[in-house]
Amino acid sequence: MLRATIGTALVVAILRLGGTPAFAADNPPTYNHDVGPILNNKCANCHRPNQVAPMTLLTFKDVRPWAKAIKAKVAAHEMPPWFADPQFGKFANDPSLSDHEIATIVRWVDAGAPEGAGPAPAETRFSKGGWSHPSGRDPDYVIEFPIDWQIPAEGETPNFNLYTPMPFSDARLVEATQVRPGNYRATHHITTGLVNLPPGMKLGTGPAWPGGPVVDYVPVPDAAAPADPAKTQGADRNRTVGEAEDADVSRARASGFGPYIPGVGADVARAGQAREIRGDLFKYIVWNLHYQATGEPETARPAIGIWWAPKQETKVVRSLSLRESTSEGRQLVAPPPGSVGKDDTTKQVGQGLNPLLDPIPPNDANWTVTGVGAFQNDATIQSLFLHMHVRGKDVTFLLTYPDGREEILLRVPNYKFDWQFEYQLAQPLKVPAGSTVKAIARYDNSRANKLNPAPSKQVYWSEQSWDDMFLISVKYTQDDGGQIATGNQ
Ligand code: HEC
Repeated sequence: MLRATIGTALVVAILRLGGTPAFAADNPPTYNHDVGPILNNKCANCHRPNQVAPMTLLTFKDVRPWAKAIKAKVAAHEMPPWFADPQFGKFANDPSLSDHEIATIVRWVDAGAPEGAGPAPAETRFSKGGWSHPSGRDPDYVIEFPIDWQIPAEGETPNFNLYTPMPFSDARLVEATQVRPGNYRATHHITTGLVNLPPGMKLGTGPAWPGGPVVDYVPVPDAAAPADPAKTQGADRNRTVGEAEDADVSRARASGFGPYIPGVGADVARAGQAREIRGDLFKYIVWNLHYQATGEPETARPAIGIWWAPKQETKVVRSLSLRESTSEGRQLVAPPPGSVGKDDTTKQVGQGLNPLLDPIPPNDANWTVTGVGAFQNDATIQSLFLHMHVRGKDVTFLLTYPDGREEILLRVPNYKFDWQFEYQLAQPLKVPAGSTVKAIARYDNSRANKLNPAPSKQVYWSEQSWDDMFLISVKYTQDDGGQIATGNQ
């Protein structure tokens, strides 16, 4: 009797370990029972109306015509998109399918993609307004861009900045924010930031970019206070219009409303955490807008959605930018010679030299940039973010503890400009004061990089996608709680 029991237990264990789905050939997986729930869970967030993906995958009727393509994309690990090397780190927002899920989808397609008996799988709840807070809730507060932007059917629109007033003048805690483009097809990306205008400037009517259409919400000289011409020029193309800023201000800027980039939905803090939006420090929102022609005239009106955080017991999530600086904003090493403060008219359009990115030499397939951030207080790392442009090749995040131990937090071996994710650690990681995080990024400015628009040119820092950036940061909470500026809400 005892033997028999052990025997059964062993058989069960072996079946489980084998990981092969127990579908007999004449009993294939079905949409209603097996595949629908996977697609709802792992695909529908992008594959639904008014989202980034080209088709909807919400019901059997939606999905059936795409069965073959779905099999190909999931078997090749191309969908859902995700770029972390699975050898390093575990991430809370990793949407990857398990081997079992992939096998289930493949068998289902091979069996003719049957709908199956029984009720359709329960639909995931999504916001009707196209917001992507995981609860399906619409935002508590929406800042709508004040004009409908017209995108011509043909031709290139450069990256440009428009400014709108901040709607509140105190510091506020947010649980989540999202930038919704208003037109997914025509929007290449949007970034938002918090700024003040340089002295002598005010919002008025002017060209959206040099030679561009004349619109409102452009910084123009304030006749009442004569402007410094050097700064006036900078305001058009560079979001750091405020120039000299202390560490507090640059940290606060980093925690603005975030970007819209394909694949990025709402930026949601973990339970018990919040980000701080410093309406007390900044008077304006800068919208950096980049549109692409679709062959038809298009209109876009982006919006920022805000979900307020509950007042009580909230830890503020901060951002440590991996440049040559500490979490308190002190500079670790001098910027490379010649990289600051020069304005060279021979550069490509829209460029600024930046101490964070020495120009990338022509035809270099492995140009490496290393950024470092140092924690001056005990902290808990929450997530990692990286942003480069089309020459971005790979990135490694390396944590060094004060005792010299090292750990790779994340490696992205095949960076893709089209997809930018925040990598949220599955287990937030406590690091003592004196720890550093290094991001080692490589750029491919050679002909071998098919996306490279000009391998024979030096590449400068700018938000234009033909230039490049190194915008890499770590979100963390300070273990002593840190200071919160937020008063009421
Ligand atoms: C983060 C957003 C996102 C998620 C999650 C996602 N997709 Fe996609 N998917 C896209 C986008 C955008 C495209 C079109 C661009 C591309 O192919 O990269 C696409 C393209 C596809 C295509 C190719 C369509 C064509 O025109 O040939 C298939 C098939 C597909 N997805 C299936 C899936 C499946 C199945 C899942 C879930 C297992 C999934 N996707 C999850 C965004 C997403």
